[in-house]
Amino acid sequence: MSNSFKTFLKHTAKDFHNQSVNPPIVRASTIIFKSMQDIRKMQNKAKKNPTGGHFDYGRQGTSTTHILQQILSKLEESYFTFLTPTGFGSVFLAIFSVTRPGDEMIVADPVYSPTRLLSQDFLKEFNIKTTFYDPNDLKTLEKAVTNKTKLIFVENPGSNTFDFQDLGKIISIAKKHKILTAIDNTWGTPYFLKPIKLGFDMSIVSATKYYSGHSDVMGGSLAVNKKVFAKVKNAERVTGLRLGPDDAYLITRGLRTLDVRLDRHRENAKKVAEFLSKFKNIKLLYPYKKDSYNFRMWKKYYSGASGLMGIRIKAKSEKSVVKFVNNLKLFGHGYSWGGFESLALHQNIKEQGNRNYLKLEKNEHLVRFHIGLEDPSDLIADIKQSLKYLK
Ligand SMILES: Cc1ncc(COP(=O)(O)O)c(C=O)c1O
Repeated sequence: MSNSFKTFLKHTAKDFHNQSVNPPIVRASTIIFKSMQDIRKMQNKAKKNPTGGHFDYGRQGTSTTHILQQILSKLEESYFTFLTPTGFGSVFLAIFSVTRPGDEMIVADPVYSPTRLLSQDFLKEFNIKTTFYDPNDLKTLEKAVTNKTKLIFVENPGSNTFDFQDLGKIISIAKKHKILTAIDNTWGTPYFLKPIKLGFDMSIVSATKYYSGHSDVMGGSLAVNKKVFAKVKNAERVTGLRLGPDDAYLITRGLRTLDVRLDRHRENAKKVAEFLSKFKNIKLLYPYKKDSYNFRMWKKYYSGASGLMGIRIKAKSEKSVVKFVNNLKLFGHGYSWGGFESLALHQNIKEQGNRNYLKLEKNEHLVRFHIGLEDPSDLIADIKQSLKYLK
């Protein structure tokens, strides 16, 4: 990328389309050719250059999805980027591409709960065994390696507990044992962390979150290096896991302001974090200053922090924690995150699939905030008025 990340994001259509400011939405099932010879010519081109955007049928994509793939490959500094209809589709595609019956996987204990349930339950039925490792003790990862281990699956930071891991160490363990690696990088996006450059084989982002940024579209991306490209391409072909052009267009549109939004999410989150850090009954899970939880490990790899944070609240009554969340006026209560709006959830950890390494103290409860683009002083005032419900 010759221009800076920020400039590149604004000029995406110019670089890849070169006509109207925005690329057209090309919808297609059938793609028409003049003759059978032309169909064969296109198929040969696709074989020779499988990342080149040569399509003979709509399920393979159109120019609209190809533009988004090119943009994301530049951002990720990846060999190629696959697009799926949801972020979880990208998680599945990554795992399905490189594991087979009899293989083993090592997965971070605090992964997004559907990723955990996929690994511990569903894949077990296909004789793929998963061991979970402690994100704060990588000896548990190395101990889990066997000669059947095919994949280490990381999510950074860990869902809800926001554990930042030593990513370089994970990569060196994987390289030593010739194991492939995947990371869910939805929290940081390649704006703050570039996993492929760091040495990961696969990097997943739920485009539903910050890429689209407006809570109105679902999608996923799976950036890969050259080593795993053919395996993922084959899995993509047989599963038909591909993003439609309308969603690709919306995600491309969202990407133009990714940096602007993320910079503001970070500024707002920092202000809210400063406020929350004043309370003795609250432990903040957000790397906003030197002595904050996991700051060192975050700083080692990330150039910034997004708007999602957790807090551990000490309260005798769980009901009072729910009341605190319910009485927030500016924070919606709902799943997903990464849009323009603030959200708050009381996290019932028992609903998230069992964890092996989570140590919640007695009377400790988890709440997750997504800090949106509102005026942070309004968000702080809202939290302040609701804190009185904590007992
Ligand atoms: C960290 C993380 N990864 C993946 C996903 C799945 O993304 P999607 O909702 O687009 O399927 C989510 C969704 O909340 C998530 O939080």
